[in-house]
Amino acid sequence: MDKSSHVYDTPPAGANADWTVPQNWEAFSADEHAMWDQLFARQTAMLPGRAADAFMRGIDVLKLTRPGIPDYRELNARLTSATGWQIVAVPGLVPDEVFFDHLANRRFPAGNFIRAPEQLDYLQEPDVFHDVFGHVPMLADPVFADYMVAYGKGGLRSLGFGALDHLARLYWYTVEFGLIQQADGLRIYGAGIVSSYAESIFALDDPSPNRIMFDLLRVMRTQYRIDDFQQNYFVVSNIEQLLQVTVETDFAPLYARLDSLTDIPAGEVLADDVVVTRGTQEYAKGAGR
Ligand code: PHE
Ligand code: CO
Repeated sequence: MDKSSHVYDTPPAGANADWTVPQNWEAFSADEHAMWDQLFARQTAMLPGRAADAFMRGIDVLKLTRPGIPDYRELNARLTSATGWQIVAVPGLVPDEVFFDHLANRRFPAGNFIRAPEQLDYLQEPDVFHDVFGHVPMLADPVFADYMVAYGKGGLRSLGFGALDHLARLYWYTVEFGLIQQADGLRIYGAGIVSSYAESIFALDDPSPNRIMFDLLRVMRTQYRIDDFQQNYFVVSNIEQLLQVTVETDFAPLYARLDSLTDIPAGEVLADDVVVTRGTQEYAKGAGR
């Protein structure tokens, strides 16, 4: 796969100044719609009992009148009435500032392409299945919806502190790879997990990764890998608490402290971590993916 195929420095031809493009739903082929349907059926069959209640509630927003890749005209009518959010199509990964500005304004940018059949189980770049199936259900949750807005505003602010790398870890370990401790057990809510068949199983059931209670500063110190299953997952008690601690904390002093604190390698457990399950790290020590 050509990893750079959907990564640009300036809006490509046909894109607007904010990098959005028309979804052009009619242009997706029958095979592309069938790919969505296949991925959608596989995930919705396996997620009950694994995905957070909030995510399961939000899946209904994706059940549109026609099968296939969601038509944003119909999807956005539903999502906007739930939480004020909308999905906008973009050609691929967009610059940080553009991304944050969309989030701050309740717009979630979604890659306007779908994976090829040989990428059924893994691709490094977010496609429409990851972006829409993975992110939309939580965006339909009012509390999480507010968290994403706050994150977008915080992202714009972080650029002024040169703190993007630290803040990005918060997104990674919550929005993409977060776990939640429900009364009836540990559940997944991160989009990178719920949109992946294999990681939906690994994140909850595999003995290899550490599962550690969420701590804001700890998370922003923790390295992550983008090319394989995570070695750590961080567990929030509930989304309200995640929203509260991030909104009520001024990150400026944290960014200043982070400059002199060392990074924590992925897979490491600290003495004051509240550990939910201590991993063997067997998977990471082996061949990996
Ligand atoms: N409170 C953060 C700040 O002072 C902003 C933020 C909110 C960041 C929520 C992430 C998530 O920058
Ligand atoms: Co994502």
